[in-house]
Amino acid sequence: MNILMLDEAGVLARADELAGLLTDAVEHGASIGFVLPLTAAEVRDYWNGVAVQIAAGGKVLCVALDEPGSVIGAAQLGLEWRANGRHRAEVQKVMVRPAARGRGIGAALMRRIEDEARRRGRTLLFLDTSVGASGAVEFYTRLGWIPAGSIPDYAADPDGTLVPNAIFYKRLA
Ligand SMILES: CC(C)(COP(=O)(O)OP(=O)(O)OC[C@H]1O[C@@H](n2cnc3c(N)ncnc32)[C@H](O)[C@@H]1OP(=O)(O)O)[C@@H](O)C(=O)NCCC(=O)NCCS
Repeated sequence: MNILMLDEAGVLARADELAGLLTDAVEHGASIGFVLPLTAAEVRDYWNGVAVQIAAGGKVLCVALDEPGSVIGAAQLGLEWRANGRHRAEVQKVMVRPAARGRGIGAALMRRIEDEARRRGRTLLFLDTSVGASGAVEFYTRLGWIPAGSIPDYAADPDGTLVPNAIFYKRLA
């Protein structure tokens, strides 16, 4: 497994792999901003938007590649641009292909995204995830993230059910 950062051109070059990763994750129940049914146009527009944000300097995307070099996981960092928040960033859309889970790929992506945040001088990271099977509360807890509360009915699961979120943060040394 190899982890690399993608620039705008990299996202466009790997558009089909990224679309497959996102679709696979959502269709297996991941709550990462989408509800079913997911259309190909919606997924394509989403990754095109990510490419634009990377080009604008507001986002970082790192991907995990399998041995032949196909995308099997991804994680993003949303870089706060406002003057009073440039020490922080939000970890977003952490996902691993269902068939590749449980092998340390998610943890490796998180290490890389945290390293990248440090490199950019960000000292505070935060994220939120859904509570229950569609989220990743145990994953972030295992990785040492600190829970900071929950909001009821925060987001819809892929099947449309409203569930609470769990908010986490981590200070970077
Ligand atoms: C969450 C996710 C990224 C984890 O990826 P992964 O590659 O399976 O995770 P890892 O194998 O690196 O696991 C890291 C640690 O978390 C634990 N963990 C991961 N998923 C877990 C789960 N569902 N329940 C309990 N523990 C879990 C692992 O056991 C491991 O702990 P260990 O180091 O003590 O062995 C993956 O399950 C996924 O894509 N889920 C759907 C998308 C999602 O919910 N993303 C979060 C939204 S912000």
